[in-house]
Amino acid sequence: MNQSSHISPSPIVPPTGLNPPLAATLTAAAAAVTAVIAGSTPDSVLQGLAPKLRAGAMDLSYTALRDYGRGDFLLARLTAKRLPDVLVHSLLLVAISRLERRPEEAHTVVNQATDAAKEMSNGRYKGVVNGVLRNFLRQRDELLAAADKDAVAFSRHPAWWINRIRVDHPASWKEILAAGNSHPPMCLRLSRRRLGAPRSGPPAMQSTSTNWQDSLAQAEIEVRALNEEAFLLTRPMPVERIPGFAEGLCSVQDFGAQAAAHLLDVRGGMTVLDACAAPGGKAAHLLELADIKLTALDIDARRLARVQSNLERLGLSATLKVGNAANIDSWWDGQPFERILADVPCTASGVVRRHPDAKWLRRETDLRKFAKQQAEIIDALWQTLARGGKMLYCTCSVFDQENAAQISSFMLRHADAERLPTQLHKSTQSDIELKLLPTAEHDGFYYALLQKR
Ligand SMILES: C[S@@+](CC[C@H](N)C(=O)[O-])C[C@H]1O[C@@H](n2cnc3c(N)ncnc32)[C@H](O)[C@@H]1O
Repeated sequence: MNQSSHISPSPIVPPTGLNPPLAATLTAAAAAVTAVIAGSTPDSVLQGLAPKLRAGAMDLSYTALRDYGRGDFLLARLTAKRLPDVLVHSLLLVAISRLERRPEEAHTVVNQATDAAKEMSNGRYKGVVNGVLRNFLRQRDELLAAADKDAVAFSRHPAWWINRIRVDHPASWKEILAAGNSHPPMCLRLSRRRLGAPRSGPPAMQSTSTNWQDSLAQAEIEVRALNEEAFLLTRPMPVERIPGFAEGLCSVQDFGAQAAAHLLDVRGGMTVLDACAAPGGKAAHLLELADIKLTALDIDARRLARVQSNLERLGLSATLKVGNAANIDSWWDGQPFERILADVPCTASGVVRRHPDAKWLRRETDLRKFAKQQAEIIDALWQTLARGGKMLYCTCSVFDQENAAQISSFMLRHADAERLPTQLHKSTQSDIELKLLPTAEHDGFYYALLQKR
């Protein structure tokens, strides 16, 4: 992607309080896609928008980014050469993605995209945008048939990514790629610690999980219980609407991520390190499960501040430290930890549906860089683990190089390491690693549990 580009969205600004016209939403979404083409994130644009415009622009831009490889394929067949104005190019990507997914809105989308183009480059490309979109509608069936024969356009993932997934998951690569294009589930984690504890929240929520579920039902929020603390929302929604969220009764955390705290096997009084802690989802879960002495470390001070605010909302506390997990001299006081969670930085290929820009911004060479960084972090952390202590290695990746291969080479470097079963419940199959592939219930995660002999 990294093209040089100027981001000049010239948005058609709606009056406050009203739903923005589609042209304004298309413009804002095009600016978000342009930011990604320039090597940044869509959020760098979306965060500055008014809430209603942001919600619509996020939906359109994230979908266009999921479809990016397909949109690029289609646009290459609809235009003689790439348009020099990146914002207009992005507008076409957003509009084509919408036209393919919502054919019933064709007329409105073409008109509104043409209106949006009037405000870009002094309206120079208004006719081009109108013509390209009309041509797309005319040739729709042939174009989509051709796109379905092209691997990148069909699977909406870069070629190197497809190859990696095929090699690493010969039996399930198609399902993994399809899951990467789906809308992510939203899962709540109910704080068992908080239930029954005296709080200032509404009385209806203060005693039992049943009461909390009743208050969800009253708010017409449908959930499906995955276990006694994980609840999948039928429809994702802003957290402000969820009863008990502000009072710290529940958190948003993917069901796959909820496995971490259980696998680490923490008990009251233990000294525990969460070595890559921000924004603190797993740290909070660990503190909810047992009265531990938790140190939450992260290299990024701004992200660590989010751990603080998350813990405050939940009424929990930990020792927060800014530091590089790979350089223990800068933050470790020499007291060994009984448990370590190493939720290392990774390609995030298991959560790509939540960050669709990532698949187009990443390069295959990034995989090697992440693997090196991960090895440095876990080698350093191993020195801080007490004898008999356990370290849980975790990624939200589905690439083998960051997962099974990483742990195999760690085992070769550390003769005092032993692999333990990663068994969530007595009823589940026990294995030396837990590979969660992305599904409708959870994201893709990898877990390996190591013990120091
Ligand atoms: C996958 S996220 C952690 C998510 C977190 N465990 C949770 O459940 O909310 C990885 C984190 O590692 C941090 N990080 C990256 N490199 C690091 C390093 N060398 N030392 C410590 N933290 C690091 C990043 O800032 C990021 O917050």
